[in-house]
Order: sequence, then structure tokens, then C-alpha cells
Amino acid sequence: MLLDGRRTLITGASSGIGKATAIRFGAEGASVCVNYYADPEKPDADAVCAAIDPSGKRAFAFQADVGDEQQVTAMVAAVVERFGGIDVLVNNAGIEKQVATLEMPLDLWNAVLRTNLTGAFLCLREAGKHMAAAKSGVIVNMSSVHEFIPWPGFAHYCASKGGLKLLTQTVARELAPLGIRCVNVAPGAIATPINTFVLDDPEAKHTVEEEIPLGRFGQPEEIAGAVAWLASDQGDYVTGTTLVVDGGMSTYPKFI
Ligand code: BGC
Repeated sequence: MLLDGRRTLITGASSGIGKATAIRFGAEGASVCVNYYADPEKPDADAVCAAIDPSGKRAFAFQADVGDEQQVTAMVAAVVERFGGIDVLVNNAGIEKQVATLEMPLDLWNAVLRTNLTGAFLCLREAGKHMAAAKSGVIVNMSSVHEFIPWPGFAHYCASKGGLKLLTQTVARELAPLGIRCVNVAPGAIATPINTFVLDDPEAKHTVEEEIPLGRFGQPEEIAGAVAWLASDQGDYVTGTTLVVDGGMSTYPKFI
């Protein structure tokens, strides 16, 4: 098993890539704190915990808004209290909503940056303190191909993911001497609830598929496998970089 005995925290783990990653981590022997945002997601988070370990020893759900400093501090403290430490943090929580830049309300801009970028910072700062004391740890940030591919209508989202790229590289340099790795995973188009607006529209779905050399959306489990490998000792020499898992989308197949 890749992650036997690892004590892990995965944000936004009640659905999509976070959920698949939590279940994969559980199957690889890890203990998992399944973070979720708000009450409506609680049943899904509880179901993820039950899938990992019906006895409840190796999994618990924790509600926290990753953009809220106090809630993040409380969440990391709960992980350390429950599991005795924290070995792996997966900053997965993220939101997106299409709006033309010239019509984008400041509130929406702030909300996306707050969850996708500030949330990752707060969680890695708090978890990183414990990892630094233990002189070991891995931080995996869920980025996107949009950390380098511009995406009209998603300036806030692209800014957050572009920010994650240099956040990760900088943190990787700062924390390497402390035995901590920091890596990004950049998924392309994955069949998760965040993409319902495209998956439910056959024409839009086809347009996206044409942008992917492998010709299909990825599955959340295909991202989870990459995260599990990076978080394990197998990924020991990987830090400060981005692993792209996108079916070839970033080769720009529509560019002639
Ligand atoms: C977004 C998806 C999008 C994909 C490829 C991801 O980061 O969350 O909505 O389909 O990038 O464009």
C-alpha cells in the first residue's frame, strides 16, 4: 500500500476529485480527515468516511471554510489531535463560475481567490508547522491546466491557479530544508460536479472533447491515482513542480 499509516487531510473531499482522492488514500492505508464546506455536504462527507473505514477509526469528517483562518486552525488541530500528527495535506477545495471579466463583481472575484488560493495558503501554513516540527510531510495542491492555459470567462479562476503555481514553487523551496515537499497536480477536464454545466450540454461536451487528444473527460479516480503516487515515498524526489494529468489537453490539439 502506498500510504500505509499516513495521517492525511483532504479539503473539499465530499465530492469530485477530493472524494475520489480520499477513497483512494483510504484504500492505500491512510487515515483521512474529509473536509467539507457546509451542512448540505455533510451526508456526502460522512459517506466518504464510511467508504474509507466503516469502523470510523481511520476517517472523520470536518466542516470548515478553507478561506477562514480560525476554522482552518481548528481543523488542523483536530487532525493532529485525532491522528497524532499530519503527514499529507491535499489542498483540493476549489470553486469556479463563468463570468466575463468586464462584468465580474468584486465579490465573485474575491470568493474564488479566497477559496482556491488563500484557502490553500492557510491550510499549508497551519499543516506545515506540524510537518516542520516532524521534519517531514507532503503538500499536494489541486491546480489545473489553467495555471498556464488562459480561459476566457474565468479570469478569477485562472488567476487563482496561476497563483498556486508560484505559491507551490516558492513554498517548495522554503520547506525543502525542513523535509517537506510541495507539488501541484493539474487536471484537465474531469467528469465531476464542477463540470455539470458542460457535461449536461451535449454540444459543449463535444467541444471540450475535441480539445482533448484522448477524446474523453478524465475520471476523478485518474487524478486520485496521481495524487496518491505523489504523496507516497514513490514521489520522494518530486517537489516544486506540476504534474499535468489532462489527456493531452495542454498540447493544444485545436491549434493548427
Ligand atoms: C476546470 C474545469 C475545466 C478544465 C479544463 C478545470 O480546472 O475546473 O471546469 O473543464 O479545467 O478546461
